[in-house]
Amino acid sequence: MSRYVIRGRERLQGSVTVSGAKNAVLPMLAATVLTRERCVIHGVPRLRDVQVMCEILRRLGASVEKEVDKTSGTSSLIVDPAGICRSEVHEDLTREMRSSIFLMGSLLGRLGEVTMAYPGGCDIGPRPIDLHLRGLEALGANISERHGYIHAECRDLVGAEIHLDFPSVGATENIMMAAVAARGATLIRNAAKEPEIVDLQNFLNAMGANIKGAGMDVIRIEGVKELKGAEHWVIPDRIEAGTFMVAAAITRGRVLLRNVIPEHVESVTAKLREVGATVVDSDGCLEVIGPEILKPVDIKTLPYPGFPTDMQPQMMALLSVAEGTSIITETVFESRFKHAEELRRMGANIKVEGRAAVVKGVKTLYGAAVESTNLRSGAALVLAGLVAEGITTVDGVHHIDRGYEDLEQKLLKLGARVHRV
Ligand code: UD1
Repeated sequence: MSRYVIRGRERLQGSVTVSGAKNAVLPMLAATVLTRERCVIHGVPRLRDVQVMCEILRRLGASVEKEVDKTSGTSSLIVDPAGICRSEVHEDLTREMRSSIFLMGSLLGRLGEVTMAYPGGCDIGPRPIDLHLRGLEALGANISERHGYIHAECRDLVGAEIHLDFPSVGATENIMMAAVAARGATLIRNAAKEPEIVDLQNFLNAMGANIKGAGMDVIRIEGVKELKGAEHWVIPDRIEAGTFMVAAAITRGRVLLRNVIPEHVESVTAKLREVGATVVDSDGCLEVIGPEILKPVDIKTLPYPGFPTDMQPQMMALLSVAEGTSIITETVFESRFKHAEELRRMGANIKVEGRAAVVKGVKTLYGAAVESTNLRSGAALVLAGLVAEGITTVDGVHHIDRGYEDLEQKLLKLGARVHRV
């Protein structure tokens, strides 16, 4: 088990290149199952979750290879799904990564059946999959759940109109993948609008699918007989970008972000400007200059284009050293404030009441031994460590490795004093 040791109080300076989006790559890898032809995905981040998804694909019968461009260091994955013949998703790997749920839609589309363990709740609260299952049932799948396993089968998926009670990212993606292989048209109403959904649409369309509307409330999918192989570049990771933007602001530093789509981080930019940071958008790069005094702001997490729940912990770290009181309301997940307790160990003044957290800014955070229990909480604790007086140790780095490629290398290059032991 590794941990980060951080000596705080360095202003971050320099530039950082944002990696490809984890949350775009994972559904895309699942989507490769829908064809028998070779797919190439470029700009893939080297992350634990991506490795797990590749291993799941291999165990289903695919071949997955990685290629690294020597000059740019960019990783590409070459997936040959021709040999996929098994419909049972490996149980331990399913439990390790929730995103294995994406294989329900694509395996149904390819083989007409799928069996997998029920992905449990996690550290950010219960994460039901009822919207995924209801959507697949609407397309004609018979689903049975027994002893913690889900079995879905359908030899003839048929397009349907599906209204999601909540614009769930995963349910929208799962239904899109199954609907591509269904007969006729599917309409997903109240669909999630995240940029990763648009990226999935682009990838599936490059494979020969006929999908319109991703990024809007209603997505229309015309089923096609067969999908072919495709080559695709993944969009940059907007949450990694947001995390470095907060790193610049919290350390009163100056950081230039490369490989970022400014529109995808607009809600974060708006909040950072409210706290007093300068954010300059030039030539597809974003420069963030931290203010000497951070002002308090209120934040409410919402589905895209609202403020992302995946940036809430990092903003809590920032607001814990602002001059005044901020209120953070978490509307997407039920209990996503575990990091508040760890931040309090570092001297933060945070009171959690249900889905709201009242953050009274303090002058200084102090280094402490803290533990990351999930990916974004881990990022928040690293950010707090960067501004704290003294030494912070962050345990549970494997959670951070799930979603941040080379985090310590990137921070070191910006002048942070951080190392992994
Ligand atoms: C995705 C992201 C995750 C992000 C989240 C919200 C990936 C791989 N993960 O997760 O990083 O935090 O979007 O932006 O893309 N819900 C149900 N029933 C369902 C599905 C969801 O009630 O069947 C609820 C969830 O419990 C949660 C809310 O809907 O409260 C949002 O979940 P959802 O959008 O589905 O998130 P994920 O796709 O799991």
